[in-house]
Amino acid sequence: MEKIDISSNIKGIHLSSCIMNASGALCSSEKELLNLMNSSSGALITKSCTYYPRIGNEKPRYFEWSIGSINSMGLPNLGIDFYIDFFEKKDINKPIFLSISGFSMEENISILKKSNRSSKITAIELNLSCPNNNIEILGYNLKKVVQFLTYVFHISKKPIGVKLPPYFTDRHIKNMSSILNQFPISFVTCVNSVPNGMYIDIEKESVIIRPNQGFGGIGGKMIKPFALSNISKFYSYLKKNISIIGCGGISSGKDIFEHILCGANAVQIGTKFINEGITVFDRLRKELIEFLEKKNYKSINDFKGKLKTIDK
Ligand code: DHB
Repeated sequence: MEKIDISSNIKGIHLSSCIMNASGALCSSEKELLNLMNSSSGALITKSCTYYPRIGNEKPRYFEWSIGSINSMGLPNLGIDFYIDFFEKKDINKPIFLSISGFSMEENISILKKSNRSSKITAIELNLSCPNNNIEILGYNLKKVVQFLTYVFHISKKPIGVKLPPYFTDRHIKNMSSILNQFPISFVTCVNSVPNGMYIDIEKESVIIRPNQGFGGIGGKMIKPFALSNISKFYSYLKKNISIIGCGGISSGKDIFEHILCGANAVQIGTKFINEGITVFDRLRKELIEFLEKKNYKSINDFKGKLKTIDK
């Protein structure tokens, strides 16, 4: 039997497998990063970092149930210097994406300047969609996105991608796409957690997470339809040299197939990785290959972005 190729390419960055972790999922500490480096994930992305280390919000700040997850972590991370130093000393065998989520333009610029100096960081994922920083979700303020990206492309020497929040109307995605098309962006990651939801513990008659009166970003199975609509719409509006990384609601090989069919080049695993641990990458890889075998596809390019609509 011919070999099935699930490798991918994000604007010249080669991924031996199209499956990687989502930022925020088990990618903050030394131990977690080592685990990811030794796994079968095709790339590694860090927890969104700030300039200085942060302990984040008070616990409980994450909860998971059968069809979803809720979080209000508050950006716990070890600070940019830790992430740069960590990779500097390592032999790296896969692309390293640094996720950045400073609280101000100035903070992001300082982080970007530091990352320019690291030869081990392959690319940057700018987080325009953190739902828990009590300021605003940058990705929903299109004017600020233009200002921000103009600045960023003057500073950064690395390939840049943006992690977007989910959008809920065609118009919003069209407008965002025409902004992104004006910049030399390498990739767009769709979608971050859905802002904002609430989960209730009926026994205690209480919210389930402590920060923000129980308000938090929603991930997991229940957000897959929003991830798919965003990937598909962005695929139709973005210039074809901008890759899309799908994120949201993946727990099986078939879910990955759906993301790629909508136009994703690679996928990120968040809630399911937290739930299942590092072996999730082996399982999903196997499930995707078996599914493609049944479909008689040889590589992801055979079906990427080929989602059909129903004609009149
Ligand atoms: C956090 C949550 C996010 O969804 C995100 O994109 C960045 C940070 C957090 O609360 O730590």
